[in-house]
Amino acid sequence: MCGIVGYAGYRDCSDVLVDALSKLEYRGYDSAGVAVFENGEIKVCKAQGKLEMLRKKMQEEGKPQGRVGIGHTRWATHGEPSDINSHPHSGAKVTVVHNGIIENYRELKEFLSAKGVEFVSETDTEVVAQLLNYYYKGDPLDTIIKTISDLDGSFALGIIFADYPERIYAVRRESPLIVGIGKDENYIASDVPAILKYTRDYYLLDHDEIAVLTDSEVNIYDIHKEPVEKTLMTADWDESAAEKGGYEHFMIKEIHEQPNAVNMTVKPRVVDGLPNLEECGITHENIKSFKNIFVVACGTAMHAGMVGKYVIERLAGVPVTVDIASEFRYRSPIVGEGDLVIIISQSGETADSLAALRLAKSLGAKTLAVVNAKGSSIAREADMLVYTHAGPEIAVASTKAYIVQLAVMYLFAFELSLARGKITEEQCRELTLSLLAVPELIGKILETDLEKSQYISTKLLSADSLLYIGRGLDYALSMEGSLKLKEISYIHSESYAAGELKHGTISLITDEMPVIAVATQRSLLEKTVSNIVEVKSRGAMVIIITREDFTIDEKAYDFRIDIPSTDDMLMPMLAAVPMQLIAYYTSVLRGNDVDKPRNLAKSVTVE
Ligand code: M6R
Repeated sequence: MCGIVGYAGYRDCSDVLVDALSKLEYRGYDSAGVAVFENGEIKVCKAQGKLEMLRKKMQEEGKPQGRVGIGHTRWATHGEPSDINSHPHSGAKVTVVHNGIIENYRELKEFLSAKGVEFVSETDTEVVAQLLNYYYKGDPLDTIIKTISDLDGSFALGIIFADYPERIYAVRRESPLIVGIGKDENYIASDVPAILKYTRDYYLLDHDEIAVLTDSEVNIYDIHKEPVEKTLMTADWDESAAEKGGYEHFMIKEIHEQPNAVNMTVKPRVVDGLPNLEECGITHENIKSFKNIFVVACGTAMHAGMVGKYVIERLAGVPVTVDIASEFRYRSPIVGEGDLVIIISQSGETADSLAALRLAKSLGAKTLAVVNAKGSSIAREADMLVYTHAGPEIAVASTKAYIVQLAVMYLFAFELSLARGKITEEQCRELTLSLLAVPELIGKILETDLEKSQYISTKLLSADSLLYIGRGLDYALSMEGSLKLKEISYIHSESYAAGELKHGTISLITDEMPVIAVATQRSLLEKTVSNIVEVKSRGAMVIIITREDFTIDEKAYDFRIDIPSTDDMLMPMLAAVPMQLIAYYTSVLRGNDVDKPRNLAKSVTVE
């Protein structure tokens, strides 16, 4: 998704903007641009392609020289990626960068065209720039208030007015935006990593709040032009957390950060050997009597919910429905009072997940957010909130955020089961102890399985398509394994419940279709192995991910990856790791842009 930055201070503005934009590259983009006040005039430089193209253009055409400006990385929505469609966009007196989608831009464009305004791009953003320009009578604040009252949809806007060369204006609705506070310099950005090199202090802008920044002052107003007092936030990680730290890619760094991330997420929530989520607003009293639980999320986060479903139903005996957020919000779900809706989201800003949360609340359900990004919209709007402590996840392919989402699902399931009297305190202690031991086991896998995973990746390079199979929790996990592989290697893959293969999909099996089989569940082992033999005997190359204490006939597979043993229920947290590694190495070997796979964005803030 698009990234916004803005700067007012004493440094070379173009340099700061491009540097800050480079920290937002993970969000995905196809063009970039800046607008800087140079000797009191707005100078724009923008280019299709990676930031390198913008740097090159700045060299060729002259870098805008100044101390105040705005910058943008664009992920195309309206109009193809091109120099013209790149941001910033301008009217005569106003220049704008925008993240989000203006849903009524066509009507507004017609309105402005009828007034004689001419447009050069196909974007919805230019419409905002021209509307601001149309309403501008000398007071930027009045202009912004009038303009955003006309806008439907989502936006975070960085705005500069030609008449006010020392100021940046910023406003948001739905799309995220922060205001970074430095000494004699201030910033705006879509996300914290953009400003970490310069400051860790920031304000979170709320919906329809307008920030006015100079190098020495930040004032924030509501839509009625009343000043707003904000709480200063401080990022609890520094710049190095958002850097590669010697690893070749963020993804492999983040895979290695998993033991620590799980520790940070689980340990503070264990008191006297039992899960304790009181600081998150979760007590035995307020969770024990939910009739139904819904887990609503997108992509990887939804897959974490699938694992949660199996565990909660098995342990706590409460029915759990897992929904893709974009389906939930439009399928008239039967949800209401007495139900709990859990929204899982790394970014806390995913548009569909946020809409699902709001829908669930409006239907009377209680909501619980499991979120990584502090102060994000989903975190702020849910009734109960459990933060995952993965730190910044930069690679588009989610790894450590998934693992900690699983960890929270387990903590919640254990606590719920205890609250409902479905497990004894002793059983709960045992499970919690096993969860606390997971980081060490992940560490072991990272020591022993790297090379094996790398080797297996060499066997997948030429495949056109792959199947991931498993039963029960292994099936829930295989969904994530399959997504991980396809999103970064660009090899098609599907996950299938192993027992379902013979109802159609097995006809696809040939010696050109590798199968990755997950078999970690003791009670299902025999049945899973039968399914594995079915595909093996039809020519598939089979890679089995299983636990070291399982004996499986060698004829059933071609390659075997062993992982340490723990409670069956916790095995997904371990088996996920070789799957991540296989996806990672396959992508590296295919020469792909591992951290920024094509067409994808890290934070999906539009529908
Ligand atoms: O920020 P969220 O967790 O809400 O994002 C949801 C999905 O877009 C995300 O999990 C996506 O599927 C992963 N980046 C894929 O690895």
